[in-house]
Amino acid sequence: MADLDDIRDGKEYGVGVEQCTDGFFLKGSNNLDLGMKDRLSRIFNPATGRTVMLAFDHGFIMGPTSGVERIDLSIVPLIEHADCLMCTRGVLRSLVPPTSRKPICLRADAGTSILTELNHNVVIDIQDAVKVNASAIAVMVSVGDAATEAETVANLYQAVDEGQAYGIPVMGVTAVGKDMARDARYFGLASRLCAENGANIVKTYYTEGFEKVVACCPVPIVIAGGKKLPELEALDLAYRAIQSGAAGVDMGRNVFQSEKPAAMIQAVGAVVHQGLKPAEAFQMFNDLK
Ligand code: 5RP
Repeated sequence: MADLDDIRDGKEYGVGVEQCTDGFFLKGSNNLDLGMKDRLSRIFNPATGRTVMLAFDHGFIMGPTSGVERIDLSIVPLIEHADCLMCTRGVLRSLVPPTSRKPICLRADAGTSILTELNHNVVIDIQDAVKVNASAIAVMVSVGDAATEAETVANLYQAVDEGQAYGIPVMGVTAVGKDMARDARYFGLASRLCAENGANIVKTYYTEGFEKVVACCPVPIVIAGGKKLPELEALDLAYRAIQSGAAGVDMGRNVFQSEKPAAMIQAVGAVVHQGLKPAEAFQMFNDLK
């Protein structure tokens, strides 16, 4: 029985004060449902609108490549510095501490490896993404690859349909094939295609003219780091991407293959969230352990 004693009449109605109707902070996301916005707010820091995703899903196509041989030893100590973790369900269940309290961007397509033809993938069951409490699911799209383009766009479509049903955002990951030009025209087309097909976030690569890629993509873009670069160059890459309008990074090898991964992810974080210039961030990298 509800306690009926001392039910006080309300007094503070704020009559004359407009209810706050601010828009949602993230590009192209204002019309999404609450679950989507809640999850996006975990991935992207509402204070800066940006994110540092730590990607360590590489083993799903590459196996134990350098830096991810022992996730427990190399990646787990970095988790505290990341805004979001991008990994497969296998590693999530076996190695990521459930007490991490970090949003997960779950690699949600699987099927091929670097030993065969890449990107003949299927999408994992959305129920599994729900079970592991994923804040987003990531699906590869290989625009321009005649053998896999239609298949991977269909995967994205399926992921978006299922993600919508459960309020889980989808990140479209633009693949780069050996025959694809790595320029703003290509990445602009690939990113836009992902967004048009319903991706809520797009992951692509930085290139000259990146501001055009960002401008014509209606949802936030994060950049992959790509192959390992000297730290100053990787910080410069992150800086230029952010200055061009990227909403963050989804970086793997340039963090976990660095000689000082913990220092590197913190320096990248300072570029992304505080706008540190590359030289300043490199100094920070050098100063940290
Ligand atoms: C591969 C991926 C990787 O997670 C992505 O490329 C980020 O890693 P890196 O910074 O090492 O390129 O999605 O499909």
